[in-house]
Amino acid sequence: RGYLSEVFMDDVTRLKKMAGEAAVEMVESDMVVGLGTGSTAIFAVRKISDLLHSGALRRVWGIPTSRQTAEQAKALGIPLTTLAQHPVIDMTIDGADEIDPAFNLIKGGGGALLREKIVAQASKLVVIAADESKYVPHLGTTWAVPIEIIPFGSQTQIDYLKSLGATVDVRQDDAGELFRTDSGNLIVDAQFGTILYPHSLAEKLRQRVGIVEHGLFLNRATHVFVAAADGVKQLVKQL
Ligand code: A5P
Repeated sequence: RGYLSEVFMDDVTRLKKMAGEAAVEMVESDMVVGLGTGSTAIFAVRKISDLLHSGALRRVWGIPTSRQTAEQAKALGIPLTTLAQHPVIDMTIDGADEIDPAFNLIKGGGGALLREKIVAQASKLVVIAADESKYVPHLGTTWAVPIEIIPFGSQTQIDYLKSLGATVDVRQDDAGELFRTDSGNLIVDAQFGTILYPHSLAEKLRQRVGIVEHGLFLNRATHVFVAAADGVKQLVKQL
């Protein structure tokens, strides 16, 4: 994690690190912080750990958005808490797969969208960190929408998504087995093409029994940090 890992970091990873660390500047002592999942959020998690160990931050408790992040945060010595103990989270820092100019997001590339959304919903501030490739004019430009579905009747959900115009892939893990979420469900990646009306699509997904949750995070993000080669920009939400 020191000098050598910086030297061997590729350009996109370096931008993710810049964005993740910039987001941590918003964290203050005595906060409960939602800890996001993925290759950008991990840099924020590491930075929080560093600041706790140096004493620059004190009494920060994390609420992880996935088992993976929980393990990473524990290994880094970040004290963890739960939504039962702290139902209101001061701030969550997370990554995103896509961000549009209205701060709507696609999330779930890592399969953690359900817990991520529960944690974001409980957070006063939702701070998104990303490299510039994630910033798009419209959702759906480069990413499919990850959708968590119950295994029972999964083919009927796939057919439903196709009836909405999507091309659907059932996600597999690295071993070629069906990907299972932390809650034991499946993820399908639904490619709708450019999504001009995300709220209308979200409503069609929300009302479907068997779809647990979808990766459209609408009206959730309050702050966005986007890293490019010339630095990190904190974007202000356009109303
Ligand atoms: C995890 O389920 C996702 O929502 C991630 O936040 C998103 O996929 C971004 O991940 P990276 O930071 O690894 O690109």
